[in-house]
Amino acid sequence: QPQHSFSDQVLSWYDIHARTLPWRSKPGVRPTPYHVWLSEIMLQQTTVATVGPYFEKFLQAWPTVGHMAAAPLDDILTAWAGLGYYARARNLHKCAISVQRDFAGIFPQTRDELLSLPGIGPYTAAAISSIAFDQPEAVVDGNIERILARIYRITEPLPGAKKTITKRAEELTPSTRAGDYAQALMDIGATICTPRNPKCEACPISGSCAANEKLDMETFPVKAPK
Ligand code: ADE
Repeated sequence: QPQHSFSDQVLSWYDIHARTLPWRSKPGVRPTPYHVWLSEIMLQQTTVATVGPYFEKFLQAWPTVGHMAAAPLDDILTAWAGLGYYARARNLHKCAISVQRDFAGIFPQTRDELLSLPGIGPYTAAAISSIAFDQPEAVVDGNIERILARIYRITEPLPGAKKTITKRAEELTPSTRAGDYAQALMDIGATICTPRNPKCEACPISGSCAANEKLDMETFPVKAPK
């Protein structure tokens, strides 16, 4: 591997600039798969700022997946109030029960096993597998789509371009620290490579960005007319 590959630049930036978020590693503490799963389900349709206090509250009430599996669904729905999309809370409970019953309370590590669980789709399976288990899975959310569409100036419109973007994401994902790498791109997408007025001067990968070179960042991602 070259010394200053794309992922190395992203990871070096993350080592300095990572946002401090309740579900991330603190010095000496790695989040458990349960923490990663819970946060990723909450973050599916809710912002980082809103999720924070709910995440803490859920961990207080149910410190392990076994506690959550044993809880009445109504208690989980009550604690979920305010996060919206209640199907997520119902699936959360179903998933906890399945992990407890089918996996002896231990989250499976592979993308395919994770995909078999309620409420876990391709994005969430890749996120848990990479963040909690350091598996080299490509994670692609909306922020990461925008970054890759700009880096490669992908002219094909979304949603059709998703396939191309996923392929590029897989090529770029490092074989270790894939979870940190994905979370670094999430942070770059949230704070630098924003939909409007991206702050390219602060971006660790602007040197590899075709849109930055042509100064047409806001053209990407191209979206199909509704
Ligand atoms: N959005 C979804 N997952 C996230 C994570 N792990 N960190 C920050 N934002 C996220």
